[in-house]
Amino acid sequence: MDLSGRTVLVTGASSGLGRGIADLVAQLGGRVILVARDPVRLEATRAALAGGPHVVEAFDLSNPDGIPVWIRELATRHGVLHGLVHSAGILTTKPLRMQSASDWELAMRINVSAGAALAKGFRQRGVNAGAGSIVFLSSVMGLVGQPGQVLYSATKGALVAMTRSMALELAREAIRVNCVAPAVVMTGMSEELQKNVSPEQFAQITAQHPLGLGRVEDVANAVAFLLADSARWITGITLTVDGGYTAQ
Ligand SMILES: NC(=O)c1ccc[n+]([C@@H]2O[C@H](COP(=O)([O-])OP(=O)(O)OC[C@H]3O[C@@H](n4cnc5c(N)ncnc54)[C@H](OP(=O)(O)O)[C@@H]3O)[C@@H](O)[C@H]2O)c1
Repeated sequence: MDLSGRTVLVTGASSGLGRGIADLVAQLGGRVILVARDPVRLEATRAALAGGPHVVEAFDLSNPDGIPVWIRELATRHGVLHGLVHSAGILTTKPLRMQSASDWELAMRINVSAGAALAKGFRQRGVNAGAGSIVFLSSVMGLVGQPGQVLYSATKGALVAMTRSMALELAREAIRVNCVAPAVVMTGMSEELQKNVSPEQFAQITAQHPLGLGRVEDVANAVAFLLADSARWITGITLTVDGGYTAQ
């Protein structure tokens, strides 16, 4: 896996999986455009990356309409993009009876619509390098169910479905589109999950991972594989990275 000379935009790069993905892209020789809302956390991530020059671009992805124009501006300022990873996302763990329309609106915007708008921006002529690789962060919750995850599952399943059609639509533009579906990896998001369930429930979730909970680098390795030419003949797939969670 080699990403030398490649520029990769990573959303959610200030934390958890996005941060780990940015770190590995940099280790593999790539230049990273780090995106999330908090510039301080983004800068802390950037400062720890190998190589460079990496770029911090603080942006709120909750308004997808503005994303394609913003990406064009990024390409004008920083040069063409070779890869795009949409790792920014929110987890809403709530029973169906407590979900509101605004919970749905926000989660769909950040997890799904922003992903589509990022891809729309990326595919514009002059924005990508004439070819490229897009990777969406789905979840095993997009493949199998869990009480309390109705909304989150809907958003993550949408990414899996969107990936297939987008891969077919963008193949003629030499853009590959894939998804990675992790099970639980300890990050800020899974700490949030841990807070929202009882210790017994979290122990049960942990026990559902035959190889134990994952590490950030387990997911970053899969994403880097899909970004690099190692996956040049792979498009439209969802690569499950779950320590055996969905094998049961
Ligand atoms: N961790 C797991 O166990 C796990 C398992 C399966 C799938 N996933 C998926 O993997 C992805 C990353 O998860 P994670 O664990 O790394 O989560 P995390 O630690 O909570 O990080 C989420 C990232 O998204 C950014 N973000 C949130 N809202 C945003 C917005 N409106 N605009 C721009 N950026 C925003 C956050 O930065 P700011 O707050 O600064 O904006 C942060 O960088 C998510 O899509 C998640 O669904 C995670």
